[in-house]
Formats: sequence, C-alpha cells, structure tokens
Amino acid sequence: MASITIDNVVKQFANQTVLQNLSLHVPDGAFYTLLGPSGCGKTTLLRCIAGFNEPDGGRILFDKDDVTRVSTHHRDIGMVFQDYALFPDKTAFDNVAYGLRARKVPKAEIARRVNEALDKVSLLALADRYPAQMSGGQRQRVALARALVIRPRVLLMDEPLSNLDAKMRLQMRDVILDLVREAGITTVFVTHDQEEALAMSDRIAIMDRGSIAQLGTPEELYGTPVNAYVADFIGSANVIPVPAESAGGAASHVRYQLCGQQLDGKQGGAALGAQGILIARPEALSLMAPAPHVPNAIAGEVLRRQYLGFKTAYRIRLHDQSEIRVELHAGNMVADFQAGDAVQVLVPADSRVVAA
Ligand SMILES: Nc1ncnc2c1ncn2[C@@H]1O[C@H](COP(=O)(O)OP(=O)(O)OP(=O)(O)O)[C@@H](O)[C@H]1O
Ligand SMILES: [Mg+2]
Repeated sequence: MASITIDNVVKQFANQTVLQNLSLHVPDGAFYTLLGPSGCGKTTLLRCIAGFNEPDGGRILFDKDDVTRVSTHHRDIGMVFQDYALFPDKTAFDNVAYGLRARKVPKAEIARRVNEALDKVSLLALADRYPAQMSGGQRQRVALARALVIRPRVLLMDEPLSNLDAKMRLQMRDVILDLVREAGITTVFVTHDQEEALAMSDRIAIMDRGSIAQLGTPEELYGTPVNAYVADFIGSANVIPVPAESAGGAASHVRYQLCGQQLDGKQGGAALGAQGILIARPEALSLMAPAPHVPNAIAGEVLRRQYLGFKTAYRIRLHDQSEIRVELHAGNMVADFQAGDAVQVLVPADSRVVAA
C-alpha cells in the first residue's frame, strides 16, 4: 500500500489543457473519489496515476517514490475499467491469473491466490466460464478480483459501476468497499454519480475543467460547498445571486438582500458590498402561513406542490418573480400548502453566502 501524491500535474492534448496544475494527496489506505461532469479530466488524471498518460508537468509520487516516468507495469497498480476490459478468450480463472503469470509467480501459488480472489468476489463456482457466459455484475467482479489479486500498491477504478443495473450497482458498492477496506488498499475511484461518491468515499474531489473545485468529506461538500458549482453538483440547491453586506458583529455573519428584504446569513466567502451567492438546500428551508414581523422570512406563493412520499416538494414564486424550491420531509412537516396558497419561506440564518 502507498499514499499517492499528485503534485502540480499538467496534461495537454494538442492545444487543450486538460489538467491544470492539479495537486491532490491521497493518504495510505484512503478511498478517494474524483467526481465531475463529462470531459472535466477524471479519466485523464486516473491514467496519469496509472502511467498510461505522461504528464506534461508536475510529479506523481507513490509514498516517497517519484513514479512520474515509471512505466505502468512497474507501478504496481490495480486498475478496473468501465467496460471491464476482460480477455474474452480467457476463463474467469485465467483472467484473474494473468497478472500473476506475468510476474512469474509459481504455479501452485497462482492457483491458491486466484481461487482465494474468486472466492472473495463469490465467483469460485464460475471459475471456468468465459466473459461472454457471465452477467455484467459477474464480469465486473472478475475485473475486481483481477485488479486485487496482484496485491497492488494502489487501486484505480474508472466508473466501474456505470454499466450495471441499479440494484447491482448498490450491491457492488458494498463488495468493493468490503474488499478494499479488508486489503487496506489506497483507492482512487471515478464516478459521475454523486450519490455513489457520497456513499463510498472518505473524501471526494469535485473536478471542474481540469482543476479541483473542492476536496472534502461527503459531509463537508454537502454542508459547506465553497461555490455554486459544487453546491449544484452535490445534491440540489437554490443558488441565488444576492447583494451581500456586513452584518456588524461577528465576521461569520453576513447580511444580504433577497426580494427587497434584509436577511441574515452565514459568511461563506462573499465579498462585502458586492454580489454574493446564497446557497440554500431545499430541505433546509421551511414554509409557514403569512404572518407579520417574522425574521428571515420572505413572502411568496406556491406554484406547484409535489407529493413524493417521504417528502413534499414545493416550487415557490417570490414577489420578484424568481423561484425557490422548498422540501418538507414527512417526519417534520408541521403544515402543508397547496398551489396558489400565500406562504412565507423561512431561510435559516446559517444559510451560506459564498463568493460569486
Ligand atoms: N487521447 C486524447 N487525445 C485528445 N484529447 C483527449 C484525449 N483523452 C482525453 N482528451 C480530452 O480531454 C478532456 C478530458 O477527458 P477525460 O476522458 O479525462 O474526461 P472525463 O472527466 O473522464 O469524462 P467522462 O465522464 O465523459 O468519462 C476531454 O475534452 C477529452 O476530449
Ligand atoms: Mg472518463
């Protein structure tokens, strides 16, 4: 096992800079996820770590070893691809044995380790099957066994679950986590499924056009996104431009204008006296019937109510014609409202105003 240090890596294709001075440290044994929209550079970064792409600048270290110019097969990595990349003409056993044979491991040890790896992914009974005779989930588990059987220093996975159906994806999350935790292996996982990232990761790096927009635990990214891009990418959020000004007192407070009213919020990096961005999760907001002098409340009208079982979602039109989304969860819903009702939206004073 090893930590991974990505130090100021630059990667260009033709005249396009795909990775821009990107730095990231993955501690030994940690499970990190790269999350971001199509084309932001996730696969390119993973391929740089694997040695399939050579960076145009910067360094990549495994522990203290600079592997930037080391070839892929001397890096000791396990890799799982989106399309599994199994050898179609080899059985499950031979697919898993491949890396051990290439390393000239003795025959008896190969048999023992391959059987152990297939057993871990519950495929011992299918050892003699060819990829075409297996389901997508089974093939994915062969790919996982093949990556882990060589006991790599780091495990790299590029959207390994995206070709599976919803139920199998959930099962495979647990299979992967159990295996990598048991082996204590440092893992970089790529997905563009935010729920998968939240559920599986120690830390998530949200990527935006070749850079890391924010690195944090799932709780940090959801609770304190640094900007509208991150807020919008992880979960859904009301992202509203608001003029921000000092609230006096603590520096952590900020006052902002919404719909011509003064509200109190939490300072999340907004420049005072300028435009900021209010980030308000729909479930952090609540609704009440109109009443005078309620602090941090703004008046509006219910445009649409959608009942979704565990929650009810409302679209509220404010007086300046902008819309805001509110979600009330079944467990703590004190009052319900219908389309056309006049309401007040309560915006909690810990809602953050970030830099525009
Ligand atoms: N070999 C290559 N030659 C030229 N351009 C490339 C090459 N590989 C990737 N790119 C470009 O680099 C950018 C990033 O691609 P990359 O595959 O890293 O994105 P990604 O984040 O993995 O996207 P996806 O979610 O669609 O897999 C894209 O604009 C892509 O077209
Ligand atoms: Mg990709």
